[in-house]
Amino acid sequence: MSEKPKTESHDPDYPEKLLEFMRTGWRNDPMPVPERPQAGHHARRRAALSSAFPGEIIVVPTGHERVRANDTNHPFRPGSDFAWLTGDYDPGSVLVLHPGGEGVLYTETRASRDSDEFFRSRQGELWVGRRQTLGEKATELGIQTAAKSELTSALADLPPGRTRVLRGVDHVVDAGVQPYDTDEPGTRDGEVAQVIAELKLVKDEWELAQLRAAIEATVRGFEDVARVLPADRAVSERLIEGVFALRARHDGNGVGYSSIVGAGAHGTILHWTHNHGATLPGELLLMDMGVEGHHLYTADVTRTVPISGTFTPLQRQVYDIVYESQQAGIDSIKPGVNFKDVHQACMRVLAEGLHALGILPVSVDEAMDKESTLYRRWTLHGFGHMLGTDVHDCARARKEKYREGQLDEGYVLTVEPGLYFQPEDELVPAELRGIGIRIEDDVLITQEGAIVLSNGLPRSSDEVEAWLAAQREAGPRLPA
Ligand code: GLY
Ligand code: MN
Ligand code: MN
Repeated sequence: MSEKPKTESHDPDYPEKLLEFMRTGWRNDPMPVPERPQAGHHARRRAALSSAFPGEIIVVPTGHERVRANDTNHPFRPGSDFAWLTGDYDPGSVLVLHPGGEGVLYTETRASRDSDEFFRSRQGELWVGRRQTLGEKATELGIQTAAKSELTSALADLPPGRTRVLRGVDHVVDAGVQPYDTDEPGTRDGEVAQVIAELKLVKDEWELAQLRAAIEATVRGFEDVARVLPADRAVSERLIEGVFALRARHDGNGVGYSSIVGAGAHGTILHWTHNHGATLPGELLLMDMGVEGHHLYTADVTRTVPISGTFTPLQRQVYDIVYESQQAGIDSIKPGVNFKDVHQACMRVLAEGLHALGILPVSVDEAMDKESTLYRRWTLHGFGHMLGTDVHDCARARKEKYREGQLDEGYVLTVEPGLYFQPEDELVPAELRGIGIRIEDDVLITQEGAIVLSNGLPRSSDEVEAWLAAQREAGPRLPA
């Protein structure tokens, strides 16, 4: 006999006759288990993580759904590290990785169809759709599964001093396992995040296919947007955001981060996501948008286009500086090059451009000196970052492996220099104020150098103009 699920004051009453009626007569069809060719990749990653901590147990949760208000939740986004290790995208699951083993995935079980849970709970299958059985999930993901209800006792049995937890993701798991640390609090558990981040630096073939798919969808999204952007009248930045979001939702999970759609001076605000401005003909439109694919890999692409269809001479001059800077960065990329040297390659071209515009108050060499870096007033951010299941992937890697390390074959990263002249900047000529330009592409490092994965979109000023004209000529379209 089933237990009554927890109810709230707004939940309807069920007369006993209806309850009995609802508990009967439901067929229980098996669910086809899709083939998951990537299961082997997940298993290899678990083995690599395990072997980084010989003889130890590692616990990696995915996190829970977050309440938006009352009985309404935010859309669930799986924990990136957990998903990278398992391929499971359901909320609440926890991976317990035993030494040398494949690991056990603790996950929510299905309520039986004669239970009240099935039809009365807002988590019940009648409300949210069929869940996988433990067996179905085990087959699909190629990992042993266990009921989530067994997790508490399983965690309590783990040996303290030999168990590390990816903390800060699931407060129940955090509370259920004693901190490993005897010396510096947080250090040993923190090493789990660090090791995963460093393992994620090199993308495998399956991951590259996911990234390519996300980037191709992003190219389609930029095309969709160009097709609805009028040359001769204003539309809301949110129209652009919405058209791209439609493509992202249709071709993938959604957007990989909040779209930045900055018309005119909004293009100078790095994280402009209010998007409540309007596209005025004659101004530039900066769009930083990326589709997150079905397996959580995201693109991260920026294009800055002249709304009228043609750059003014000054807009073109600034655009071309940013383009040359990006090209210098891309050209410098190959295995063994320092991450910092790519930054320097991009920044030197920007500093030279600022000098040519007559606004650098010192020489280019002086501006490039690490005791000065005055050019940064107008460049604001680094040249790029790793890309993967997170837009800023591998962020927990040690400095010496990432920001102060060398690039390697199989890394995927962005190259995204920009120039930003704030409307209130009294140190630049009035005609430059309110111009913000960034060009951002996603590149894969190979033995031969960088391959621009986002080359489905043009980058040079002439090509951008021709592309915009061609998209407008083709006219609006819906994803199909
Ligand atoms: N879209 C965020 C970034 O470019 O890093
Ligand atoms: Mn980026
Ligand atoms: Mn971006």
